Amino acid sequence: QSGYITLDPGFKNTGSTKSAITFLDGEKGVLTYRGYAIEDLADKSTFLEVAYLLIYGELPTKDVLEKFRADIRSQMMIHEDMKNFFAGFPSKSHPMGQLSCLVGALSAFYPESLNPNQTDEEENKMIINLLAKMPTIVSWIQKKSLGHPVVYPKNNFGYIENFLNMIFGEVNQEKTFDPVVIDAMHKLLILHADHEQNCSTSTVRMVGSSNANMYASISAGINALWGPLHGGANQAVIEMLEAIKNDGGDADKYLAKAKDKNDPFRLMGFGHRVYKNFDPRAKIIKKACDDVLEKLGVQDPVLDIAKRLEEAALSDQYFIDRKLYPNVDFYSGIIYRALGFNSDMFTVLFALGRLPGWIAQWKEMRDNKEPIGRPRQVYIGENLRQYVPIADRK
Ligand code: SDX
Repeated sequence: QSGYITLDPGFKNTGSTKSAITFLDGEKGVLTYRGYAIEDLADKSTFLEVAYLLIYGELPTKDVLEKFRADIRSQMMIHEDMKNFFAGFPSKSHPMGQLSCLVGALSAFYPESLNPNQTDEEENKMIINLLAKMPTIVSWIQKKSLGHPVVYPKNNFGYIENFLNMIFGEVNQEKTFDPVVIDAMHKLLILHADHEQNCSTSTVRMVGSSNANMYASISAGINALWGPLHGGANQAVIEMLEAIKNDGGDADKYLAKAKDKNDPFRLMGFGHRVYKNFDPRAKIIKKACDDVLEKLGVQDPVLDIAKRLEEAALSDQYFIDRKLYPNVDFYSGIIYRALGFNSDMFTVLFALGRLPGWIAQWKEMRDNKEPIGRPRQVYIGENLRQYVPIADRK
C-alpha cells in the first residue's frame, strides 16, 4: 500500500466494472451468458442467436432472429479496396496481425463509426457490419496465405456455412456442409463468445472508454488475444503437442519441464486465472473433439498425446496443488486442425468466436457511460534530481 493506492498486479483481485453479461464461478466451473448455462447454449443454440443474446440481453424471437441473420448476411461483403492490404503483407505474416489491421481499417471505410454519439440505430448498424464482415475477413486471410482465390459470401447460406464455404469452398464442399462439422463450429464459436473481464475484453473496454471507435477497440482486443498466455495458447498447444510427438511422445519429460521453476516452459492449455476447477468449456470441446475426429475418420496422434498429458497432469501433485486443469484452449486446436485450418489461424478463430462478447462488453461500457480507464501506480523511481549538461556526464 502507498497512501490510498492498493497495488494489484494483473488485477487479480480488482473488479474493473459492473456487468450483466457473463457470470463465472471459478470454484464450481460455472459459466453463464445473460443467465443461460453454457452447456444449454452449446447444446441447443446457434452462434448468431448467442451473439444476439450477449449483445442485446435476451434470446431473440423467431422473427427478430431472422431479421438479425438477414441483416448480417446482407453485409458480409467487404470493400474490394481492402484487398490492397493483403497485397502489402509479407506472405508469412501472422494472421492475427493481419486481422487487427483489417478490423482497425474498417473505421476508414465506415467513417460514421468515428462519431462517439451515434444513435442506437447507427450503433446497431455498425455492430451488424462488424459481425457480418469478420468471417469474410478471416476467410480471405486464410485464402491469401495459401495463394488461393478468395471466395465470396452467398446470400442463401447460413453464417457458419458461408464461413466454411469461404474457407473450404471449391476445394472441399463435402466438409463444408457436413452437419457434424457445422455443429462443431457452432459449439466452438459459442464456447468462445464471452468470458467476462479477461485480458482482451478488458483491453476492448479500456480503449473504448476513451471514446475510441468500436473498430479500433476491437482491433486492440485482437492484439491482446494474440499473446500465447491468452488466446494464442490454442496455437501454442498444438505446437507443444507436435514437439512432444517429434520428441518421441514423452509426455512425462514435458510435465517435468513445466514443473521446473528454472525452465520457462509452461504446459500450454493448462491453468486459468479464474477456473480453479475444470474449465466447463474444455469438457464440451473435448467431447466435440472425439465426435468430429470420429466422423471425419481422422486419427490424430497429438490427440492421444493430449489425453495422456491431461491424465498425467491431473494426477500430479504440482498441478493438483496449483489447481491447474485443461482450459478452453487445450482441445480446440485439435478440432480446428481436423477441420483443415492452419495452426496460425486458430487464434483468429478464437477472435471470430469472441467478437460478440467484445461487442457486448463495449456496448455495455458505453451504455453505462463508464469513465475513461486511468489506473494509478506506486512510484518506485528516482527522487527529484538536477539536469546534468552532457559535457559533465560521466
Ligand atoms: C485463455 O482470462 C480468461 O478468461 C482467458 C480465457 C478467455 O476465455 O478469455 O479463458 C482464455 O486465455 C485461457 C488461458 C490460456 N493460456 C494458457 O493455456 C497458457 C498456460 N497457462 C498459464 O500461463 C496460466 O495458467 C495463465 C496465464 C492462464 C493463468 O496465470 P495466473 O492466473 O497469472 O497464474 P500464475 O501465472 O500466477 O501461476 C500460478 C502458479 C505458478 O506456480 P508458483 O509460482 O505458484 O509455483 O501455477 C503455475 C505458475 O508457475 N502455472 C503453471 C501453469 N499455469 C500456472 N505451471 C505450468 N504450466 C502452466 N500452464
